[in-house]
Amino acid sequence: MSAKTTSNIVVLLFMFLTASSSYIHEGNHEGNGKHYKPCKRLVLFFHNILYNGKNAANATSAIVGAPQWGNLTILTSEFHFGDLVVFDDPITLDNNLHSSPVGRARGQYIYDAKNSSSSWLGFSFVLNSTDYHGSINFIGANPHLVNFRYISVVGGTEDFFMHRGIATIMTDATEDQVYFRLRVDIKFYECW
Ligand SMILES: *[C@@H]1O[C@H](CO)[C@@H](O)[C@H](O)[C@H]1NC(C)=O
Ligand SMILES: *[C@@H]1O[C@H](CO)[C@@H](O)[C@H](O)[C@H]1NC(C)=O
Ligand SMILES: *[C@@H]1O[C@H](CO)[C@@H](O)[C@H](O)[C@H]1NC(C)=O
Ligand SMILES: *[C@@H]1O[C@H](CO)[C@@H](O)[C@H](O)[C@H]1NC(C)=O
Repeated sequence: MSAKTTSNIVVLLFMFLTASSSYIHEGNHEGNGKHYKPCKRLVLFFHNILYNGKNAANATSAIVGAPQWGNLTILTSEFHFGDLVVFDDPITLDNNLHSSPVGRARGQYIYDAKNSSSSWLGFSFVLNSTDYHGSINFIGANPHLVNFRYISVVGGTEDFFMHRGIATIMTDATEDQVYFRLRVDIKFYECW
């Protein structure tokens, strides 16, 4: 084979790899243009009912910290900057608030963006069902207006011992400032 033919083949191969990797990148939003296959996947919903001064019995979350210009009953105006909410929310397999829960989503969200609709999530799924037992721990930025947000799955216990991955968060429903439901598509890329 001549040097020229070899270099043409190299160029063609390079073009093919570049084209296919950018295709995969767009299709999977996984970064680096690499295609990773999850070792385990779970899709779950959780339901958050925020205390608003009137729904103490029904609420699953409460404002526990607010800036000087706010209070613990109503989120501060516009982007709710500075509010800290603690939650203990039911997790269900489908999008029905009244389905029997398979565990609790427990943790906090902090409205940490002054000039956009965004929060920071730090929470655990504590699962106790016939299929899964153990906890999964999540952290990350949650820009509400983006349809699909990606947060880190930093670890787990029991059935999720040493697991890591990425969760895709989607707002499945909202009602005023009281209720929201998130769909969480958990893809583990490290399983033990
Ligand atoms: C909390 O703030 C809201 C909005 O500013 C106000 O309407 C409400 O009266 C306040 N509640 C308390 C208990 O201070
Ligand atoms: C807030 O965001 C808007 C729109 O992006 C921008 O026009 C404005 O200057 C920003 N304000 C501050 C205080 O950063
Ligand atoms: C898990 O569910 C079982 C059966 O409902 C219950 O007995 C047990 O206390 C639960 N464990 C935890 C940690 O919630
Ligand atoms: C509890 O909150 C949910 C969500 O906002 C609502 O659909 C439901 O009617 C409430 N239940 C009670 C008893 O207030």
